[in-house]
Amino acid sequence: MAPYALPDITSGSDQEPIVLAQNEHAWPPSARVQQAVTDALSRGQLYPDSDWTELRAAIAGVHRLDAASIVCGCGSMELMSALMLAYLSPADRLLMTEYGYLFMRTLAKLVGARLDTAAERDYHVDVDSLIAALQPDTRLVFVVNPGNPCGSLLHNDEIRRLRDALPRDVLLLVDEAYAEFVDPAFHEPLFDLVEHGNTVITRTFSKIYGLAGLRVGWGYFPGDIRDQIRKVQNPGSVSTLSQVAARAAMLDQSGADEARRLIAEQRDFLTAEITRLGLPVVPSQTNFVLVDFGSPESAVSAFEFLRAHRLVVRPMAGYGLPACLRITIGTPEQMRLTAQTLGAWHAQIGG
Ligand SMILES: Cc1ncc(COP(=O)(O)O)c(C=O)c1O
Repeated sequence: MAPYALPDITSGSDQEPIVLAQNEHAWPPSARVQQAVTDALSRGQLYPDSDWTELRAAIAGVHRLDAASIVCGCGSMELMSALMLAYLSPADRLLMTEYGYLFMRTLAKLVGARLDTAAERDYHVDVDSLIAALQPDTRLVFVVNPGNPCGSLLHNDEIRRLRDALPRDVLLLVDEAYAEFVDPAFHEPLFDLVEHGNTVITRTFSKIYGLAGLRVGWGYFPGDIRDQIRKVQNPGSVSTLSQVAARAAMLDQSGADEARRLIAEQRDFLTAEITRLGLPVVPSQTNFVLVDFGSPESAVSAFEFLRAHRLVVRPMAGYGLPACLRITIGTPEQMRLTAQTLGAWHAQIGG
């Protein structure tokens, strides 16, 4: 099998690259988070708490959840791996959407499961096409909401409709890595679905909480699935420094609220600037936008031009969208530079 393909983030110029290719947060962790990590260094000789007790309590408090049903991992990627290892064998099928998060394809290969994909409609997850693609041996259905790489939001009513249509013994994994970027007015929490016993919801500290380098994800699991997951997980995978950082970030919700507002502002700015060039941008509820350049040649030309000007964005051929580029929303200065550089590219090609 091929390894999971990470983007090439080297710059095409001799200057330090500005990386807008991995949907990382635009700003470093807060002073409070940095202080918590510094303080915890003095406990570095000890193994981490393998039950993530204080971190789970902080998450449960903020989201009003049962702490016993929360599992933490070395990024949500570890939780996805654990779920696939525990539940899928070569006799099973994984069903995901056409443009769903590529890491799940790597995991399907790893466990030897067969993979089915359901068409998306207009860059949106389409519940009817997922239901139509179900097979008798489909074991797990995977949905990312809001989606990566499209950034589009599926109303939670649609996820509930999907759950209702799935057989009871089919697991549903909803990856909510970008959920905190959605305006809370449009996003009712979905955690109650977990109580029915066959749905898992994952979240991460890598995106709005800005801790991608510290590798902390968490999930809300039905009790029996939690017990199976814990058997295949490395009990020490979330370091002490990562746990205290994530706890401090979770307890400071004003930081996440401010980040949501600032990212939305910059997303609106970049969307408007790119739309002015006549390039369609998929309406996004996340910290990235998907831009359609009309042809693979145009997308490659824009990618190379941006790269020559230090700006590294994400080509989308691997996702089956070769005419598109995905751009992470960054600081106001980075977004101004991106808009200007795309404008210069557009003028150069005679747009
Ligand atoms: C949809 C989606 N899920 C999960 C992840 C990985 O998250 P983590 O850093 O928590 O492993 C990403 C990272 O880009 C993502 O886009």
